[in-house]
Amino acid sequence: MHPEGRDNDMGVTPGLDMPLDEAMRTQRAIRRLKTDPVDDALLRELLELALKAPTGSNAQNWEFIVVRDPAVKAKLARFNRRAFSLYGRIGRRANQNDPKMLRLLDAVQWQADHFEEVPVLVIPCLKGARLPFPSVAVTSYYGSIFPSIQNFLLGARAVGLGAALITLPLWNVIAARRALGLPWSVTPCAVIPVGWPQGRYGPTTRRPIEDVVSIDRYGNRAWREA
Ligand SMILES: Cc1cc2nc3c(=O)[nH]c(=O)nc-3n(C[C@H](O)[C@H](O)[C@H](O)COP(=O)(O)O)c2cc1C
Repeated sequence: MHPEGRDNDMGVTPGLDMPLDEAMRTQRAIRRLKTDPVDDALLRELLELALKAPTGSNAQNWEFIVVRDPAVKAKLARFNRRAFSLYGRIGRRANQNDPKMLRLLDAVQWQADHFEEVPVLVIPCLKGARLPFPSVAVTSYYGSIFPSIQNFLLGARAVGLGAALITLPLWNVIAARRALGLPWSVTPCAVIPVGWPQGRYGPTTRRPIEDVVSIDRYGNRAWREA
C-alpha cells in the first residue's frame, strides 16, 4: 500500500494531482460532451476514488452500473426527455427573465437531445431498504451515495472529463430499474453522463458564505455583519 493510501505504485494519473482547491472551485455540471470514447481504465480509476467516500455505518452498500450499451442508453434517454419536456417547459416559463437560468435550460435541452451519444453513463445505486422514518433514516440512506458521486465528479474534473450529476432520467424508478436490470433491493440514485467536454471547465457562481452560514443558531449571520 502506498503511504498516501494509494492501492498501487503506478504513480498519479495525469490530472489527478490537480490541487484539491482548484478541482473543487472549477468542478461543474458539464452537459455538452463529445462522442469520443472514454477509456475503461480511466473510468475504473475514478470509480476507485468514488469508493473511498464514506457511507453510513461504513456499510458500503453501493452498486455502480457503467452503461455503454446503446439499447440501455436509449431507454434512459427516453426517460430523461420525457421528464425534461415537462420540467423544461415549467422552467422556461418560470425563468423567462433570467438569462442565466435560460442558458442552463439550453444546456439541459442539449443533453436531452444528444443523450444517446454520451460515451458512458455511470449510475450510482444503493442496496437495501430505505426506511421512511425517522427522517434522518432517509437522509442517512441517500447520504451514503452522494459523497461517492462528488468524489467521482471531482476526479472527472481533475482528469478533464466532463460529467454531471443528474436525476431526471430516474423520474420513474420502476422503469429505470427495469431498464438497468436492477432487482427491487437496488435503488438507482443518480445518473452521471461522462465524456470529454466540448467546452471548458471554469469557476462556478455560488451564494456567498455570509448568506448561508449561521453561527450557533439559525439566522445569526454574524459573519455577514463582520
Ligand atoms: C440532486 C441533483 C439533481 C440534479 N438533477 C439534474 C438533472 O436531472 N438534469 C440536469 O441537467 N442537471 C441536474 N443537476 C445538476 C444541477 O443543475 C447543477 O449541479 C447546478 O445547476 C449547478 O451547476 P454548475 O455546477 O454548472 O454551476 C442536478 C444536481 C443535483 C445536486
